[in-house]
Amino acid sequence: MFARQVDPHTYHRPARLRAIECYGPTVMSSVLPSVADKPRYVAAMFGRIAPRYDLMNTLMTGGQDSRWRRIVADSLVLGDQAQVLDVGTGTGKLAQAVRRAKPRARVTGVDFTLPMLRQAPSDLLFAGADALKLPFADGQFDAVVSGFVMRNLADVPAGLAEQARVLRPGGQLVIMETTPGPPNLLRPLFRLYFRRIVPLLGQLIAGDESAYTYLPESTLAFLEPDRLAAVLREAGLRRRTGAAAGPWQRGGHLGAQGCGLAVSRQLSGDGC
Ligand SMILES: C[S@@+](CC[C@H](N)C(=O)[O-])C[C@H]1O[C@@H](n2cnc3c(N)ncnc32)[C@H](O)[C@@H]1O
Repeated sequence: MFARQVDPHTYHRPARLRAIECYGPTVMSSVLPSVADKPRYVAAMFGRIAPRYDLMNTLMTGGQDSRWRRIVADSLVLGDQAQVLDVGTGTGKLAQAVRRAKPRARVTGVDFTLPMLRQAPSDLLFAGADALKLPFADGQFDAVVSGFVMRNLADVPAGLAEQARVLRPGGQLVIMETTPGPPNLLRPLFRLYFRRIVPLLGQLIAGDESAYTYLPESTLAFLEPDRLAAVLREAGLRRRTGAAAGPWQRGGHLGAQGCGLAVSRQLSGDGC
């Protein structure tokens, strides 16, 4: 019923399970949608839960999600009038955090779920668009951020390549995402919480147990931070040297030494 790790060399796939190529080659699940169905599934699901999305985030994370967004916003180093893109902006919480932290920046949000955008503040600049086909010119933004979006994409490398495309050389990319976290003693407790308590909360508060089964399962099936870092490198992004935590930068001919650090949130800590 739930996502799990399997050895691809010894595992014979039952008909009802599908490989979730958008996460990793070893993840199988009967809960997560197939790659082909994923965009429609994700948009419909966020459309259903949009009115309760922010409340559920606060409850599920004990209010930590606001703090994580502040960490992302504070990590950006921006000049005056910098252009920032928030991919998968949803109700606009991350875009708002960036606006608060960097009042001189111009922040634009994009999302393909209109009911989520309708919950965003009306003074936020936003566009209805697919993260895999951003309606922006190459190198248009000084920074690109996203919060809890990457694991929802049908094609993570293509999504990252698209974000890198719209970043100017030397621009910064920050990803806030939940990941399976390292295998340690706490992992079974997190899994229990994610698989039992979160769907129950989703049923009680949002009236949608299936959405709040998908959300934790997509986290547990998402790329481990090391693999996500490898995909970032393949998209031409480099870790900023000398920084304990900071954004990834787009390397380029203007002399940017690709650098930076993906802020990829783990279940079991602030691990970046
Ligand atoms: C979990 S919500 C995150 C919202 C917000 N970033 C936050 O910090 O709470 C994920 C959002 O990504 C959007 N999304 C997922 N896949 C997308 C895609 N391919 N193109 C545009 N938006 C997408 C969903 O519609 C949803 O609003």
